[in-house]
Amino acid sequence: MAESSTFIPYPGVQFEEEEMIRRSRDYYEFMNKRRSVRTFSDRPVPKEVIENILRTAGTAPSGAHKEPWTFCVVQDGELRKEVRRLAEEEEYRNYNGRMSDRWLKDLEPFGTDYIKPFIEVAAALIVVFKHSYTSDEAGKRANNYYVNESVGIAVGMMLAAVHNAGLVALTHTPSPMNFLEKALDRPPNEKAYLNIPIGYPAEGAEVPELTRKGPDKLIKWY
Ligand SMILES: Cc1cc2nc3c(=O)[nH]c(=O)nc-3n(C[C@H](O)[C@H](O)[C@H](O)COP(=O)(O)O)c2cc1C
Repeated sequence: MAESSTFIPYPGVQFEEEEMIRRSRDYYEFMNKRRSVRTFSDRPVPKEVIENILRTAGTAPSGAHKEPWTFCVVQDGELRKEVRRLAEEEEYRNYNGRMSDRWLKDLEPFGTDYIKPFIEVAAALIVVFKHSYTSDEAGKRANNYYVNESVGIAVGMMLAAVHNAGLVALTHTPSPMNFLEKALDRPPNEKAYLNIPIGYPAEGAEVPELTRKGPDKLIKWY
């Protein structure tokens, strides 16, 4: 073991088998109720809740523990208006030429188009940035590893935390998303990864009906 390592006892949790079975089933059933929602209420969410959700995301594993992410919480009305304008510009081009016919057909069940009111309406917009490398105070570059995998896992944990708080989210990709780097004045090592409105669903919100792969297709046991 490297001499620079310091180890502490694992501070984790353990359950008896019966409790483990119950908890794993309950958690699956709870998570199976998560849905992407596209119509939001403007009802505010306490800052502490947003912070706890993002701190949960920040507990994610990452390559060599580089934590190659920043979660920007955008609530300012003027900034959101600008982000919406820029996002809709990209989305207009996506829906009118950049997306293939097959892609547009695949999107039909979701009833989406280039208009994205949720950017302004939802309680908060979480813009996630990945760090392709890290710069220290002196501007010296350090490598990050498995950045996409790490940030994807952190966002997954964030989405679970949103659901756990009884709120909803939408994973939104108004690609190309580099306008977000400029709009939020992020440093050059940060690349926009996902745009995720979170908050309460609009009253009477509906979601597309879908089924999920069952265990026979989802899992192969070896
Ligand atoms: C990487 C990624 C990008 C997505 N981009 C969009 C998007 O730009 N707009 C949108 O309305 N939904 C987007 N979605 C949401 C998916 O359509 C949604 O997750 C999928 O239909 C399954 O529905 P569910 O999340 O309710 O289970 C995206 C999801 C992922 C994981």
